[in-house]
Amino acid sequence: MAIQSVGVIGAGQMGNGIAHVFALAGFDVLINDINQDALDKAVSLIDRNLERQVSRDKISARIKSDAMAHIKTTLKLSELGQCDLVIEAATERETVKQAIFEDLVPHLKPETILTSNTSSISITRLASRTDRPEKFMGFHFMNPVPVMQLVELIRGIATDEPTYTALHEVVEKLGKTSATAEDFPAFIVNRILMPMINEAVYTLYEGVGSVSSIDSAMKLGTNHPMGPLELADFIGLDTCLAIMNVLHDGLADTKYRPCPLLTKYVEAGWLGRKTGRGFYDYRGETPVPTR
Ligand code: CAA
Repeated sequence: MAIQSVGVIGAGQMGNGIAHVFALAGFDVLINDINQDALDKAVSLIDRNLERQVSRDKISARIKSDAMAHIKTTLKLSELGQCDLVIEAATERETVKQAIFEDLVPHLKPETILTSNTSSISITRLASRTDRPEKFMGFHFMNPVPVMQLVELIRGIATDEPTYTALHEVVEKLGKTSATAEDFPAFIVNRILMPMINEAVYTLYEGVGSVSSIDSAMKLGTNHPMGPLELADFIGLDTCLAIMNVLHDGLADTKYRPCPLLTKYVEAGWLGRKTGRGFYDYRGETPVPTR
């Protein structure tokens, strides 16, 4: 089946980036959220990010306006039922995702492929709560979506080959590259990235280095574009902690024990850039380390 229309559930950081790249690649995009304000903000952010690409000569003004014309929004989840592909990019909580799938499934046409952008939750378990485990997959984009080249493709135990092939082709149409991961906790990227971030927090917790020295060491010593603590703030410390808990619970190995300092920051509501404070304080002109 040729995929032309795409429903995106959730207008947050990931949802708006996903809508951006699909619209740019010529797909019809329908974004759904429970909050009109979130939908309006997502559309204006996509406009701004496309404008940034125009000003850097990556795309023309015509391509930008074509992309914007491909985007529509709705508060009604049921309206996504007619889409060829649905990508759930809501809050990273299993109960929330399950409730969304339960509400959506009765409205879906039989051939719709259903996916989740989850960064760590079991695809097989999410799929088993729907009417179409064979047409269900993990479709994991990286942040910022318009810039990052990778999309992880995760098959659940029941996913059929035509579904996998269809998504593989969609990734190619987006001009991105896929990596295929088996459905085990946190897949590939976060299985490797999150323990590194968690270890950076332990390095801070144990006083081996300060926030600045840890980030400088990894940026300049290993050519990472961001230091691990800056990256943790960028991803969101609540998300980092949630993924460490998935690894810890799912693999039952103490090497995945979340650092108590990471838990403390989350308890304080210091979740990184999105709340103005995390390992850095973003409320002034330039970010200042908080330790
Ligand atoms: N939309 C469109 N373009 C964007 C953008 C956005 N939201 N954000 C940045 N860009 C573009 C800029 O326009 C710029 O383009 P050009 O190179 O064409 O000029 C380019 O990206 C670089 O941006 P900046 O110059 O503003 O900033 P930078 O050089 O400091 O790079 C960064 C910013 C791309 C975010 C870089 O720091 C980086 O790659 N950081 C690491 C990001 C990363 O690791 N992401 C994965 C996180 S893990 C994940 O997402 C999985 C998960 O489940 C948690």
